Amino acid sequence: MHRAATPGDIKEIKKILSFYCLETEKVEKNLADFKVAVLNERIVGCACLDVGDVVELRSIAVLPGYRNYGIGSQLADAVLHRAATLTDTVYLRTTSPGFFEKKGAMRLGHEDKKMIWNDCAKCDKFDICKQVLMKFNI
Ligand SMILES: CC(C)(COP(=O)(O)OP(=O)(O)OC[C@H]1O[C@@H](n2cnc3c(N)ncnc32)[C@H](O)[C@@H]1OP(=O)(O)O)[C@@H](O)C(=O)NCCC(=O)NCCS
Repeated sequence: MHRAATPGDIKEIKKILSFYCLETEKVEKNLADFKVAVLNERIVGCACLDVGDVVELRSIAVLPGYRNYGIGSQLADAVLHRAATLTDTVYLRTTSPGFFEKKGAMRLGHEDKKMIWNDCAKCDKFDICKQVLMKFNI
């Protein structure tokens, strides 16, 4: 089961993201855009739709022990469902491209990241960055 995140979920969301070394700094600011997956009253996964100039699927993660049961897929669907009311293109930067390919996303070129995001254009680790740029047409 998934639902919109509430302030009481912040600590658990940050724990899940930290486990995979994903960014936690913007959780409070973007809380309204987070979905959480709940199993036996425990938060076991999260995902965020970052709505800026570019609409980006971010911060998707499922606790170890709960992976490969379809939870990540359901979270992605929930986020994309909301995105469909706002845009027809959702971008993402990921080190798990295989998961998103199964969901129907397509890979784009590494250099394209610089045109889409200022933080990529300015990043001094761009040449060694392992995040794959992908997009969903929804
Ligand atoms: C990526 C992640 C969110 C997927 O969640 P999940 O609940 O394990 O995924 P699901 O069970 O919904 O998997 C759906 C399908 O994708 C496949 N899949 C899951 N993770 C995958 C991965 N990392 N690479 C390739 N395929 C993957 C599953 O095997 C499944 O395939 P099937 O439909 O043929 O059975 C989860 O593995 C995770 O938290 N990874 C670590 C954090 C991370 O890398 N997040 C992405 C940052 S952008």
